[in-house]
Order: sequence, then structure tokens, then C-alpha cells
Amino acid sequence: MPSLFAPACFLIFTLIGAAAAAGKVPAVIVFGDSSVDAGNNNQISTMLKSNFQPYGRDFYGGRPTGRFSNGRIPPDFISEAFGLRPFVPAYLDPQYNISDFAAGVCFASAGTGFDSSTSDVLNVIPLWKEVEYYKEYQNKLKAYVGDTKAHDIISESLYIISLGTNDFLENYYTLPSTRSKYTIDQFQDHILGLAEKFVKDIYELGARKMSLTGLPPMGCLPLERTTNFVNGNGGGCMDGYNNVALHFNGKMDGLVKKLNGEMPGIRVVFTNPYGIFMEIIRKPSNFGFEVASVACCATGMFEMGYLCDQLNPFTCSDANKYVLWDSFHPTEKTSRIIADYVVKHSLREFL
Ligand SMILES: *[C@@H]1O[C@H](CO)[C@@H](O)[C@H](O)[C@H]1NC(C)=O
Repeated sequence: MPSLFAPACFLIFTLIGAAAAAGKVPAVIVFGDSSVDAGNNNQISTMLKSNFQPYGRDFYGGRPTGRFSNGRIPPDFISEAFGLRPFVPAYLDPQYNISDFAAGVCFASAGTGFDSSTSDVLNVIPLWKEVEYYKEYQNKLKAYVGDTKAHDIISESLYIISLGTNDFLENYYTLPSTRSKYTIDQFQDHILGLAEKFVKDIYELGARKMSLTGLPPMGCLPLERTTNFVNGNGGGCMDGYNNVALHFNGKMDGLVKKLNGEMPGIRVVFTNPYGIFMEIIRKPSNFGFEVASVACCATGMFEMGYLCDQLNPFTCSDANKYVLWDSFHPTEKTSRIIADYVVKHSLREFL
């Protein structure tokens, strides 16, 4: 009997041990672009800020925090789903300090990309600088909670990595100098190489649980539809850009598998927003939306600008009826649907 009992006992303890470890995400730590920036750009000298009305009108206190939304953005909902605060504060926001950041922090900067020539276009924080801030954060964290606790937070936190759209739309398809250096296939591989390097860099710094986010259907953003319209193609989604996103996402999925096989103790998941985002755009009424092609903060026509205009008298009154908030970014309601989806489909194992 003991010979049968002992392995069963061992199995039970192993299962309990695994369950305890899996439930332990003490903080959500965010790197990326405007899809996840909680207000870092407010503190730097760039034109690319959203710290004015009507941004944030549905956020707590109706405050324009620098999130590119009428309210919360995906990391806020993800943090909430993990039983943490319902928002993730920006590292450069002077309202917060290390006592807040110990439970979650955002280093993202709108307009940035994996390639630092992308962040140069709009004079925003390059990804390597986000990592420098992360190192500074680690030092502050050690001073605040002690080395042992800091080590736990660093290794058990969920790292959300969400960028790449700007490398294509603001860099490759905007700058002839980039297009003359790479074919689109070469450029995708170049960006994936930088993504791999980034994951390895933060792994070296102690990060273990990561979500690497793929590209959205970037040809369906109103800004790109306008280009299509101007070019005489009717203002639908730009299939070319969407195909690049699909192709890139397939390669990123492969990269994630490779990283999991190669790096001891790492757990990276590929988070793919493409399908759910496309479903919302194609069948908005299934999700309770009334408008998918035009942004809430829009003139009612196709949009040319990147940002909402503070003085625009045509901004919609109920953003929950709109898939898109401005010509580049989803509304809070869309962000919530996407976040719920990725928590259920990709991040569940970290819950
Ligand atoms: C953080 O800020 C709060 C109030 O805003 C303050 O009470 C606290 O002492 C600060 N903590 C640190 C570690 O600076």
C-alpha cells in the first residue's frame, strides 16, 4: 500500500503547489505604445498627448489622464481581472509613487515602436528607454519593499508588451528611407528580431510571465480608410495592411513558441487581438455597437488627423455606441471587450 499511496500524495502536493504559484500575479507591468500608454507622454516633449478633454471623459473623475481613450484601456481591465487595482498608473505621472507602482506600473509611450527610428518620428520614448525606466523602477522597488519581496514582484508579475503598429504605419509606410532599406518581409523579420531582443532583455532583468501582443487589423483604422478613400478605393479597410498584420502575427506566434522552448523558466503567451477586433468591426451590432467605420471623436466624415480635436463640436455623446474613439484608438467599451477576450483566451493560465 505505501508504495501506491506515496506517489498519489506527491501528486496532490504538486498540484496544490502549482495552483498556488499560478494564482500569484502581484502586479501588471506594461511596455508599449498608445494601445497601452496610461499617460507617460504627458511628461515628455511630444505633440502626441491626450491630456485634454474630451479624452478621459468616461474615466474616473472624467479626468484626461493621457490614455488615448474616453475611459480605461486594456491593461486597466486586465489588472482588474487579476484582482488588482482597476487601473495601471503611468510611471512618469507625478500623482503616483513607488507605493502605487509596487502593484502595477506602465512604461508605455504613445507613438513608439520596436525600432527606435519609429519613436524618433514623433519624438516619443524609445523602447530601450522604457527598459531604462524599468531598471530604475526595480531599484526603487528594492529600496521600498526589500530585495526578497522585490524579487518576487519582478519574477511573478505579468508583463504586457503591446506595440508594433507604429513601426508599420508611422515608419515603414510613411518613411521612404525605411522602405528603401527593407522589403516588407524583411522589415517584418527585422521587427520580430527586435521583439525577441526585447523579451530577452527583460528576461535577463528577471521578468518571466509575459504577454506578447500581435497587431490589430491596422488597415481598418479610420486614418487608413481615409487614405484608401483619397486613393479612390471607397474608404473600406486597406486589405494590404491587414494582410501584413496577419502575416506578422503568424510569425510572432512562431517566435513565442521558440522563446518558450529556449529560455528556462519563461512563460510567454501570444496575445492576438486581430480576430476579436475584426469581428467587432464586421458585426458591431453583435457587441451592442451602432457605429464601426467612423470614430466617436470625429467630424462625421473620414478623418485625417491622428488625434481628437478639443474643439470638435461633433464628438458623439455616447461613446459606448462606437467601436472607435478617435481615428487611431478604440473606445473604452471596445477595450473592455478585447481585454475580456484576451484574459479568457491567452492570459487565463496566469490567473
Ligand atoms: C507616496 O505618496 C503618498 C501620498 O501621495 C505618501 O503618503 C507616501 O509617503 C509616498 N510614498 C513614498 C514611498 O514616497
